[in-house]
Amino acid sequence: MLTHEQKKVFIETYGCQMNMYDTELIKSILISNQFGLTEKESDADIVMLNTCSVRDNANRKIQNRVHEIKKAKKNTMIGVLGCMATNFKTELLENKSFPIDFIAGPDSYKTLPTLINSLISSGKQQYDVTLSEFETYSDINPTRQDGVNAWIAIMRGCNNFCTFCVVPYTRGRERSREPKNIVEEVKRLVKDGYKQVTLLGQNVNSYRYEQYDFTDLMKMVSDVEGIERIRYTSPHPKDYPVKLLHLMKERDNICNQIHMPLQAGNDRVLHKMNRTYDKQEFLDLVTQIKSIIPNIGISTDIIVGFPTETEEEFLDTYDVMEQVQFDSAFIFKYSERPNTRAAQKFPDDVSEADKKSRVIRLNDLQNNISLKKNHNLIHTTQKVLIESLSTKKSNNEIQGRAECNRIVIIPKEKQKLGDTINCLITDATRNVLKGVELKENQEFAISTKRNLNLIHS
Ligand code: SAH
Ligand code: SF4
Ligand code: F3S
Repeated sequence: MLTHEQKKVFIETYGCQMNMYDTELIKSILISNQFGLTEKESDADIVMLNTCSVRDNANRKIQNRVHEIKKAKKNTMIGVLGCMATNFKTELLENKSFPIDFIAGPDSYKTLPTLINSLISSGKQQYDVTLSEFETYSDINPTRQDGVNAWIAIMRGCNNFCTFCVVPYTRGRERSREPKNIVEEVKRLVKDGYKQVTLLGQNVNSYRYEQYDFTDLMKMVSDVEGIERIRYTSPHPKDYPVKLLHLMKERDNICNQIHMPLQAGNDRVLHKMNRTYDKQEFLDLVTQIKSIIPNIGISTDIIVGFPTETEEEFLDTYDVMEQVQFDSAFIFKYSERPNTRAAQKFPDDVSEADKKSRVIRLNDLQNNISLKKNHNLIHTTQKVLIESLSTKKSNNEIQGRAECNRIVIIPKEKQKLGDTINCLITDATRNVLKGVELKENQEFAISTKRNLNLIHS
């Protein structure tokens, strides 16, 4: 009998979609090694924290969580997984009293059963944080929950070394999965009833496997019969071939939506960040994207207060946001990460007050843009994929997403999870659209009426 048999594991996931996906992989690895899984922390013998270290505070937050878990139940075994694993290894070696039992980095999840067995038999802390040039977990079938969208990691790691970013250090070098293997997974997902796949990578459009690039892969995935929607995240602006945009336009099942991080709008700051494009190149790319796919949904990530960013330089970011009119934006204060080039070379010299004021100004700007853009969609018809049969506020409403990725809230009728329905948008806030389901004949009547209204106004 294995020493860990009958042990129940609870996993808590932090960070990005890649970490969510990794948790699904970890669950499969544990199940096939006779571990039990539980959704209740109090039932668990082992708690795994799948961590993120992209911004500060994470370390302290996880340290507090570790103490909290031990306080609740003294003999719970605690493992730190994910992007903070390497950091925590040092912590563990320096501070022997820190109550972590095992550590596994993003490329070491297959060794979890062995680590736990060694821990149980020796009573000694265990770790494996080796980064691999090859591990893609392509032989593991993730244990997924959501029955509508499935994440698929098509590549792992990052070679870009943006100077502020810890990911290339926590997740190692880029490596891509074989297209055939990805296509097989998509076919299996269709068979299991999934409607949408989201292809994931830290740098998804740098995908390359032998002669196949990201556009080739997208074509193959789009050819899979029965897959209704394909999304991908996050692309880097440096890798945007026109052929990918044309493919997105041609294929009905590839959603007209892009999440494309800008980070900053000033050339000097972009250069210091090692983003490899300048303001004008980003603006030109957006113009090109919009000219090929006019109804594209575009969102972005921004960092304010990168070392030495002046007020004037910040206003370039403001300007790009005004010009592009993103649908939504995640705006972050720069947070110095250990070992990154920025941490080594540039002092974190923008004051907290300036960072805060810049975040507030960009959020105000973006809120106005989002509200205006959402309002413009009132009276349009949107195809909505139903993702949840209730909303946070009500059980009489359901929730789905339009192709542009906006959330749409609809009165509950007889819809089922995974249905795609036509909706007339009737109202909008800055975060969501509200709509009603249109039955087939209504659609024509309403679009005719709208045209008449337009002619009369
Ligand atoms: N691979 C993705 C981004 C991964 S991290 C990409 O390149 O698009 C997600 C976002 O976190 C980044 O886009 C960036 O805006 C933000 N981020 C990364 N490092 C950061 C740091 N040190 N401080 C503040 N924000 C950071
Ligand atoms: Fe980080 Fe840049 Fe790589 Fe994205 S592309 S993961 S921001 S280094
Ligand atoms: Fe965080 Fe690692 Fe993702 S640092 S954002 S969990 S790649």
